[in-house]
Amino acid sequence: MNSPAPEPLDRKPTPEEQQAAAAHLQRAQEEAAHSRRIPEGVAGAEVESAGIVGFGTMGRGIAMSFASAGIPVAVFEDSDEAWIRGEAAVGGSLSRAVGRGKIDAAEAEARMRRIRRIEGFEDFGGADFFVEAVFEDLSVKTEVFARLDKVARPGAVLATNTSSLDVNAIAAATDRPEAVVGTHFFSPAHVMRLLEVVVGDATSGETLATAMSLGLRLGKAPVPVGVCDGFVGNRMLFAYRRQADQLLLEGALPEQIDGTLQRFGFRMGPFAVADLAGLDIGQAVRQRLAAEATARGEPPPKPVVADRLCERGRLGQKTGAGFYRYEPGNRTPLPDPEVAEIARRESAAQGIGRREVEDREILERCLSALVNEGAEILGEGIAEREGDVDVVWALGYGFPRERGGPLYWARQIGLSEVVSSLDRLTSATGDPSLEPSRGLLELAVR
Ligand SMILES: NC(=O)c1ccc[n+]([C@@H]2O[C@H](COP(=O)([O-])OP(=O)(O)OC[C@H]3O[C@@H](n4cnc5c(N)ncnc54)[C@H](O)[C@@H]3O)[C@@H](O)[C@H]2O)c1
Repeated sequence: MNSPAPEPLDRKPTPEEQQAAAAHLQRAQEEAAHSRRIPEGVAGAEVESAGIVGFGTMGRGIAMSFASAGIPVAVFEDSDEAWIRGEAAVGGSLSRAVGRGKIDAAEAEARMRRIRRIEGFEDFGGADFFVEAVFEDLSVKTEVFARLDKVARPGAVLATNTSSLDVNAIAAATDRPEAVVGTHFFSPAHVMRLLEVVVGDATSGETLATAMSLGLRLGKAPVPVGVCDGFVGNRMLFAYRRQADQLLLEGALPEQIDGTLQRFGFRMGPFAVADLAGLDIGQAVRQRLAAEATARGEPPPKPVVADRLCERGRLGQKTGAGFYRYEPGNRTPLPDPEVAEIARRESAAQGIGRREVEDREILERCLSALVNEGAEILGEGIAEREGDVDVVWALGYGFPRERGGPLYWARQIGLSEVVSSLDRLTSATGDPSLEPSRGLLELAVR
């Protein structure tokens, strides 16, 4: 007897299923706020004042979050130009909030007054909580932490907003690694609700509890995560993007891949997201991973289409072109024949014959890879609960909320279905990263 044809992966959830998914995410968010890593009876400290180092894209958004929650922030930014730009951006954002009737002029003024620039680290005074948001460079960050260690009062928390660096290495630059934690805000930091709270090997329960309760006070959804490359969200993004990048070399185009994932329910496809964030961000990560592979005596990963785009100065929306082209003053991604040509040339250079790629294959590969990595992260204990993984991707990466998050969705279609799908894809593609992870296999039998 023939087994019934599998359901299409993008079958729209029924209203009842959507309600159940929303309830799951709500419950998961509440549970995530209670980290199992905080020992019984340990409570966080109240945060009355904060210090921020770096007033770039993230620093200013984080400062606005503090100011909105009534917490005064002292900011050390060593570039006058960055400070002026940041101040104008904060002012602009507050006046837009007034214009939309979200806050009144007096509240906007009070928030603006809560953010003040200081001349040097010694002016931080007795701040309770510091957030470092300088360039993503380990030596710049460790220097900042060594300096903070000298001026911060005993008991203050020192947090880093790094998106990929080793929080343990940053903590080691201080004599108080127990007070160091990662607070990974998402951009724009005053809007996005997700906050990955990165727990280092030495982070104390008190430090973690303070960071988690501060996150709630800032109106965020804090999720505790362990240290690894990319933490929970970005590590899953690498696995998902790896498939999208490969599909681009095998014959698909950005608009087909993005369109397919949007029809599944993502707000934006991975290439439109990359254009928004800036292709240089991904390139810096790939360069670091290549250098690390070389240092281990391994061959560096093969180039991807994004590398070729970066070489041509196509860094995304900010340069008017990336995976798509953009008309001046318009953020709508427009398919670009030049990108198709660049992809064709890169496929040829790598000896990959381009073929017609079906939408179903795009969904199957990108989503199975995402679920596979999420389950592995859970198995390694980097994430505490299945729901935490779902919250991270639903709140931070645009995974369709009506589907409840990657692991919840995988449970609905059946974890054993995902395992079979990965087995099939591994033999079809020869890509070892598609082999079912130990974490997924463990989850599937539980
Ligand atoms: N941009 C994002 O989408 C995003 C998202 C999450 C996390 N992050 C992380 O946040 C951090 C900041 O990123 P960003 O996008 O705001 O960068 P950015 O380049 O916009 O801002 C960094 C700011 O730090 C200042 N700075 C550098 N060294 C300094 C020092 N020693 N003392 C004082 N100020 C200094 C710079 O002048 C600049 O204004 C990075 O670690 C990044 O990985 C960024």
